[in-house]
Amino acid sequence: MTIIVTGGAGFIGSNFIFHMLEHHPEYRIVCLDKLTYAGNLSTLKDVMDRPGFRFVRADICDREAVFRLFEEEKPDMVVNFAAESHVDRSIEDPEVFLRTNILGTAVLMDACRKYGITRYHQVSTDEVYGDLPLDRPDLLFTEETPIHTSSPYSASKASADLLVMAYHRTYGLPCTISRCSNNYGPYHFPEKLIPLMIANALNDKPLPVYGEGKNVRDWLYVEDHCRAIDLILHKGRVGEVYNIGGHNEMANIDIVKLICRELGKPESLITHVTDRKGHDMRYAIDPAKIHRELGWLPETKFADGIRRTIRWYLEHRDWWEEIVSGEYQHYYEKMYGNRGTV
Ligand code: NAD
Ligand code: TYD
Repeated sequence: MTIIVTGGAGFIGSNFIFHMLEHHPEYRIVCLDKLTYAGNLSTLKDVMDRPGFRFVRADICDREAVFRLFEEEKPDMVVNFAAESHVDRSIEDPEVFLRTNILGTAVLMDACRKYGITRYHQVSTDEVYGDLPLDRPDLLFTEETPIHTSSPYSASKASADLLVMAYHRTYGLPCTISRCSNNYGPYHFPEKLIPLMIANALNDKPLPVYGEGKNVRDWLYVEDHCRAIDLILHKGRVGEVYNIGGHNEMANIDIVKLICRELGKPESLITHVTDRKGHDMRYAIDPAKIHRELGWLPETKFADGIRRTIRWYLEHRDWWEEIVSGEYQHYYEKMYGNRGTV
C-alpha cells in the first residue's frame, strides 16, 4: 500500500504521517509538500530516514511534477491536506487560496484519474457550512447542512469539495471527504489561536482576542482527527462526506483564560482587538454519522489535550521560536501592529 500525503509538513498532515507510520508500518508513505511558510521540514526530521517514507518537495498545482510523482510511485491512495489554511491570510490576499485549494485539488484528482487509485480523500473543514448563532445551541452541522461560506478560505475549501463530488459523479473517481472542526495539538503553526496564545503568553506579550472573544469553536485533538481519516480510508463509503468533531464547544475568551491559568500568566495580558471581518460566530459538528457507520469517537478530553499541547510547546521551544523569530515577525507586525483595541 502506497499513500501520497500532500501537505504533510504542516500541522495535521505531519501528525497524520506519524499516525500512519506507527499504525501501518508496512505502508509506504510519500509526503508531497511545497514547504510554504506553513510547512516545516524540521517537523518531519524523526521520520525522514525511515524506510517506507519519502519526502518530495513540489507544488500540488504543478501538473508535471505531480504526474511525474504518480508515475514513479503508482500510489494506491491520496490524502490531500495541502492547503492555504488561515482565514486571516485569506482575507488579506485570497488569490493563493483559490490556486492551491481549488486548482491544486483538481490537478491531484486528474493524476488519480490518469494513473488509477483506490481512494482519493479530501481533507475539508466544518467552515464550509458557514456559522451558527450563539443562541441556538440545539443547532449542529450535519453532512446535509447546506454549504454557506463566509471567508475566501472557506469558499475555496467548499469549491474544492464540490469539485471532488463532481469528479466522483462524472468520472467515477473513488472519493471521500471529511469535514472536521478546529484541531489543536503539537506542530500547530503559531499564527492560529491556541499556539499563538501559548507562544505570546510564554513571551509575556499581549494576547490579541478578536472582539469580545465570544465566538465559539468546536475543538478536537489532532490525533483524534488522524484516527478518523485512517478509518474513513479503510472503512468509509466512497462518494460520502463524513463530519468529524468532538462536541467540545468553547468560547475563544475561555480558551485564552485557560491558557493563562495553565501557564501561571496574568489575564491582564489579554487585549481585545478589532474583530476579524465577517467573523463566523459559532461552529458545531454533529459527528453521529462517523460514529454510527465507522464506530469513531473522540478519545482525548479537552482538559487533557490542552495540557498535553501546552507541555509540548514548553518542551519544543526551539521548534516554534525559530518560526516566530523569522518571516513570521513581518506577518505579525502587519496583522497586529496597527490593529486597534476595543
Ligand atoms: P497547515 O497550514 O499547517 O499546513 C498546510 C501544509 O500544506 C503546509 O505544509 C504547506 O507547506 C502545504 N502546502 C500549502 N500549499 C501547498 C501547495 N500548493 N502544494 C503543496 N503543498 C502545499 O494546515 P493544517 O492546519 O495542517 O490543515 C491541513 C488541512 O486540514 C487543510 O486542508 C485544512 O483546510 C484542513 N483543516 C484544518 C483544520 C484546522 O483546525 N487546522 C480543521 C479542519 C480542516
Ligand atoms: P483560528 O485559529 O484562526 O481558526 P478559525 O478561524 O479557522 O476557526 O481562530 C480561532 C478563533 O480565534 C476565531 O474565532 C478567531 C479567533 N482568534 C483571535 O481571537 N485572536 C487571534 O489572534 C487569532 C489568530 C484568532
